[in-house]
Amino acid sequence: MPFRRAPGWPAVLSDGPVLLRPYRRSDAAAWSEVRCANRDWLAPWESSLPGDWHELNSPATFRWMHRDQRRSARTGEGMPFAVCLHENGQERLVGHINVGNIVRRAFCSGYVGYWVDRRVAGRGVIPTAMALVVDHAFGPGGLHRVEVNIRPENRPSRRVVEKLGFREEAYHARYMHIDGAWRDHIGYAMTSEEVAAEGGLLARWHRLRARTA
Ligand SMILES: CC(C)(COP(=O)(O)OP(=O)(O)OC[C@H]1O[C@@H](n2cnc3c(N)ncnc32)[C@H](O)[C@@H]1OP(=O)(O)O)[C@@H](O)C(=O)NCCC(=O)NCCS
Repeated sequence: MPFRRAPGWPAVLSDGPVLLRPYRRSDAAAWSEVRCANRDWLAPWESSLPGDWHELNSPATFRWMHRDQRRSARTGEGMPFAVCLHENGQERLVGHINVGNIVRRAFCSGYVGYWVDRRVAGRGVIPTAMALVVDHAFGPGGLHRVEVNIRPENRPSRRVVEKLGFREEAYHARYMHIDGAWRDHIGYAMTSEEVAAEGGLLARWHRLRARTA
């Protein structure tokens, strides 16, 4: 039975210049611009969809996706956040992070997916977003476990989860249809007990950054 109000949704989360918030209808043009500017950067890691990249990432597609994501957020099956950066007094949409396929009851588990604009890659935006989302999912979101599945070739994405201390726990052969073929994925996971003693994943990430700064 759907929730009257899904646990932990809607929410706005932030740390420094990184802001996560629900998408708005007015994000259509900015979302489409970022997606179109990042075709070569994103296509190797995303599910295969028939059609032209620009059409698949048009403002009209955004409006369809937005409706779908709002429905899944309302029913407690997803937590889709726009990833924004606050710089020079401006908020700029630079990426996406979602806890999807949420199963509750005895699982209380979901999968995290993400991407960021190449123009701001390497600045720790997604590790920060991930830490915010995981702490939120384990707290108000009511989840106990999050999983991330990554192609072995995707070194930057594997660095994100490895830095944050996700456990590598599975190898999924021919797991998903990505960029035109069935691709193997490495399965990473984390449960709430693994970060509770440290005051959460964001606290762990801050300590790690301070050590490497
Ligand atoms: C994976 C991704 C989300 C990482 O986000 P991010 O905010 O750049 O994360 P980080 O800043 O922690 O950088 C992660 C790694 O990317 C690499 N990197 C750094 N700067 C980079 C740049 N300018 N360009 C490419 N890779 C870079 C480094 O290996 C870095 O690891 P390090 O901290 O050990 O040096 C981003 O690379 C991306 O969107 N890639 C395309 C889509 C994708 O792969 N999505 C995930 C599918 S599972």
